[in-house]
Amino acid sequence: MVLYVISLITIITAMMMLYQRWWRSNIPPGPKPRFLIGNLHQMKPHWTHSFAEWSQTYGPIISVWMGTNLTIVVNTAELARQVLRDKDHQLSNRHRVARMTQNGTDLVWSDYNPHYVKLRKLCTLELFSLKSIENFRSLREMETRSMLESILKDLTIMQDSGDVDDQVHKPVVVRKYLGAVVLNTISRLMLGKEFKSEEGEEFKAIVHKEHLLAGTGTLFDHVWWLEWVSSWVISDKNFLEHKVRRTKWFRGAVMEEEDAVAEDHEGFVRKLLVLKEKNELSEETVVSLVWNMLTAGADTTAVVIEWAMAEIIKYPIVQKKAQQELDSVIGFERLMTESDISKLPYLQCLVKEALRLHPSTPLMLPHKASETVWVGGYKVPKGTTVFVDVQSIGRDPANWENPEEFRPERFLGEDIDVKGRDFRVIPFGSGRRVCPAAQMSLNLMALVMGNLLHCFSWSSPIPGEIIDMSESPGLLSIMTTPLQALASFHSGRSGVHRISLD
Ligand code: HEM
Repeated sequence: MVLYVISLITIITAMMMLYQRWWRSNIPPGPKPRFLIGNLHQMKPHWTHSFAEWSQTYGPIISVWMGTNLTIVVNTAELARQVLRDKDHQLSNRHRVARMTQNGTDLVWSDYNPHYVKLRKLCTLELFSLKSIENFRSLREMETRSMLESILKDLTIMQDSGDVDDQVHKPVVVRKYLGAVVLNTISRLMLGKEFKSEEGEEFKAIVHKEHLLAGTGTLFDHVWWLEWVSSWVISDKNFLEHKVRRTKWFRGAVMEEEDAVAEDHEGFVRKLLVLKEKNELSEETVVSLVWNMLTAGADTTAVVIEWAMAEIIKYPIVQKKAQQELDSVIGFERLMTESDISKLPYLQCLVKEALRLHPSTPLMLPHKASETVWVGGYKVPKGTTVFVDVQSIGRDPANWENPEEFRPERFLGEDIDVKGRDFRVIPFGSGRRVCPAAQMSLNLMALVMGNLLHCFSWSSPIPGEIIDMSESPGLLSIMTTPLQALASFHSGRSGVHRISLD
């Protein structure tokens, strides 16, 4: 009997080892993993830095073990095309680690399944179709105008307090205005209203906490047969408290308000709630969907504009060229609107260049293989997480001359698409999971940046236009030091009245 049991265990172990060997055969090369922890101990806070270093040794497609989870990273345009276009069908699921990912009941973290398709269709139709983008144009323009007024107000306060003369010499924190204009635009799009200031503050605090919690994953999260330990023992007080706080905020800022508004109210939430009444959507999905849009939309757009403004200050010639174009197309008697964008090729190039050099999510969001596929001649086994390093692709010297240089002109000669068709620059991803808000974000970025440059001239408070261009680690590429800049009225706009409301 004992002999029988020992033989059985030996056979099972041998079979498991053979299966594992087969499973791992032909996967891309990469750093040697350790038992249980894989390569986690070698990962730098900026994952992109580790991936770039390993890629120097092992090539453009590498295997990295996050605990026991195999992760494959690609960093060339050709491999991105294979992942996001040729093998899109098998690589469109999502890898989810943190408990903050709604277990896939939402849009962003859902696997590619009928539930996802339904939500994606709904959002595209109601929020991001060309018709919807056009319908909400005045909303973006109003919010941009409010942003200018807010900057103007702050500068006027400085002038009145005698801190500065007409040529302003006290810096403003650019992020403050960008965060507000983007969040207000999206919240009005979603809810038909702006948040009250305390609601906005609470929202920001919750998102901040969410980022912190997402970073508190433990080794258990990366070892598939120990994941339950993580959610059972470690998770939960913090996470549960956070969830309660988020739901409370949501009920107060979104649902209660919605109950009170008229039936013909136009916010997206109203439409979601009607579907909930008809039992076509659960409350959890409604909450997650609104949360998705607010979180996926607000920071992503604001951070790119902040980087763009930093680059513009670093390269004054770029600022001058953009302003010359704005002045000659628009003049000085009115503000720029979205219908001007098509007549402003340099401004469009500036937006593209900012997205090339500083995509908001340098590794996009993690995809996951629903079947075993082959990419670049290597096996990507079912269940593998796949990252596309869009930041490295946008800086690949094989495709871009002097890639580290901020030079919008590079886009002038060639009509390069940045919404997922040209794999040399894919800040919004590509294929089935491409960012649904790409066109709307491009419009908003051009509108905000155009107005900032048309109304003001920007410079650094530190002589020599010195700016800290370092970025914080994490899913989003955020400037470590918030950009501080001196704003003075752009020549031809030397008075407040020039940009005050008509
Ligand atoms: C500069 C601005 C933005 C950039 C660079 C950006 C980039 C991205 C990227 C890289 C992805 C992942 C694509 C993939 O996994 O293949 C994504 C997904 C997504 N983005 Fe954006 N995004 C931006 C703005 C926005 C805005 C304003 C919204 C909403 C109001 C939004 C909503 C979403 C949603 C819902 C998804 C998930 C799509 C899915 O999984 O199917 N994004 N975005």
